Amino acid sequence: MTDFIHRFEPARDAGSPPLLLLHGTGGDENDLLGLGQMISPGSALLSPRGRVLEHGMPRFFRRLAEGVFDEEDVRRRARELGDFVAEARRHYGIAAPVAIGFSNGANIAAALLLLKPDVLAGAVLLRAMVPLSDPPNTDQAKPELGGKPVLLLSGQADPIVPSSNSAKLAALLSDAGARVDHNVLPAGHQLSQADVTLARKWIGNISAKAA
Ligand code: MLT
Repeated sequence: MTDFIHRFEPARDAGSPPLLLLHGTGGDENDLLGLGQMISPGSALLSPRGRVLEHGMPRFFRRLAEGVFDEEDVRRRARELGDFVAEARRHYGIAAPVAIGFSNGANIAAALLLLKPDVLAGAVLLRAMVPLSDPPNTDQAKPELGGKPVLLLSGQADPIVPSSNSAKLAALLSDAGARVDHNVLPAGHQLSQADVTLARKWIGNISAKAA
């Protein structure tokens, strides 16, 4: 399979959507397995390790500074990740996954939604920011998310993601056709128990609707 180091845990409940787990800067393929199990206990879990290294820390795309992205690399890496997901789906026999991304992982998930709208069935974006200053792009004239569900959970006191930026991301995804729920939590950049509770409830709702 494509050269993403990854973990895969098969589903224990066929009715639960597969999850694509995307870690933050410095994380790896093991980081979010526990979170995935908490959010959706029966789901298949596909968890790749970002292929970009920043001072030895894995990421999903290059950045020039904190919050300043190498957008050409964002596009290239989103394509690579989309190809990996397509291959993993064939290999493991799973449906289009719902991404659960934290920080840098949430940003690549947002880029995937905008650049490759077919890859994901939906996404939980934890502390995400706008990944591209000028989407849509050359991959597709206008992204068409066709009502795909997206849960965006931001931190009110996040020192990395200004509230104007997460609001802009919510608007961008809505304009592209996603069904966006945006909650701003009394939190910083780190996750809180409220993130887990809200994500779990949201996944339960979308699974019930799909059933
Ligand atoms: C990013 O680089 O994607 C964001 O700055 C979040 C982070 O990884 O710190």
